[in-house]
Amino acid sequence: QVIEWQKQDGRNHLPWQQKPNMYRVWVSEIMLQQTQVSTVLKYYNRFILSFPDVKTLANEPIDDILHKWSGLGYYRRAKLMHKAAQMITDNLGGRIPSTVEGLMELPGIGRSTAGAIVSLSLNKEAVILDANVKKILIRFYGVTSALNEKGTEKKLWELATQSLPNKEFRQYNQGLMDLGATVCFKSKPKCQICPLHGSCRARIENIIDIIPKKIKAKPPKKILLRLTVF
Ligand code: ADE
Repeated sequence: QVIEWQKQDGRNHLPWQQKPNMYRVWVSEIMLQQTQVSTVLKYYNRFILSFPDVKTLANEPIDDILHKWSGLGYYRRAKLMHKAAQMITDNLGGRIPSTVEGLMELPGIGRSTAGAIVSLSLNKEAVILDANVKKILIRFYGVTSALNEKGTEKKLWELATQSLPNKEFRQYNQGLMDLGATVCFKSKPKCQICPLHGSCRARIENIIDIIPKKIKAKPPKKILLRLTVF
């Protein structure tokens, strides 16, 4: 259902989806961490034009890269990507690893980003679990433990792994992200147009407003500080 919905109603014209390769998808996934698609669209093509492949990126002074990144924020992402590009050219013969495990060895690439890169660029089997996917799984399976509760993260990785189809990993993972971003909103999700409408536990049990939930953080401890200036 997710795959068919993605083909029909998902996002299929994003620049990194055109001629996808590992480098183009890697750059897009790093930019899309903590940043909305609409913002990334203003920077992505210009960045790829300046740094079209991993070797160019690795050989470029970091200041030039940061200059092209300016406006996207969270500059640590660009520094780690540059470091990773240098590791790829220096130690891996210029080839970006094509497995989740291999990608996770590189700075700035966590498990979900690694899964996104191999599934979206190579259409290979891989699991993703970003904030949007977590929200969908929690609602679909009716997970009532809080997002930030111990054990929930592990449970979600298990559910995400079990839910994988046996083909069309690119469309499936893109579909989950698209559903999270355009249908399964945190508040007022558009359940009436959701392809998972008929089997979503949260919708069936009418608890879409209750989950996902977070445990409230403890109020900060007050401490008294004395400073003596001579
Ligand atoms: N957020 C993270 N990865 C994304 C992708 N491939 N498409 C849209 N939004 C995303």
